Amino acid sequence: MTKTIYILNGPNLNLLGKRQPEIYGHETLDDVEAQCRGVADEFGLACNLMQSNHEGQIIDWIHEARQAAAGIIINPAALTHTSVAVMDALNAFEGPVLEVHISNVHKREPFRHHSYVSLRAEGVIAGFGIEGYALAMRRMGGLLA
Ligand code: DQA
Repeated sequence: MTKTIYILNGPNLNLLGKRQPEIYGHETLDDVEAQCRGVADEFGLACNLMQSNHEGQIIDWIHEARQAAAGIIINPAALTHTSVAVMDALNAFEGPVLEVHISNVHKREPFRHHSYVSLRAEGVIAGFGIEGYALAMRRMGGLLA
């Protein structure tokens, strides 16, 4: 059976391409999805990209992933730095978790330097623009091979 990867995106990432393009670029979540789908095809994986501005919805999708997904790629956006609940949900997921940030969070304000999700993630990509998602998908393909 084809393995599915959940690609979860947190608050404000629906505005990707419009929001602070000097930091996050001009490409949209549709572009992210197209790039991830290309890599997923190479590895015989399926992917399901989702975005929510609501912490509880992200948590519900992580719970759903326990049955529905072999791995999770997550850009938790601001929840990265605040949400013990997202981290706890990821700790209840058994497959690999990869964390992506479009910007280089370590070059930004100190409050962006700490990530609760990094305490759970197998790997973290930051500052590669939206290419980070495709790189994470490639890594996921290797981890699940
Ligand atoms: C982000 C970085 C976060 O600090 C920020 O709150 C975001 C996006 C990134 O992709 O660079 O919303 O996760």
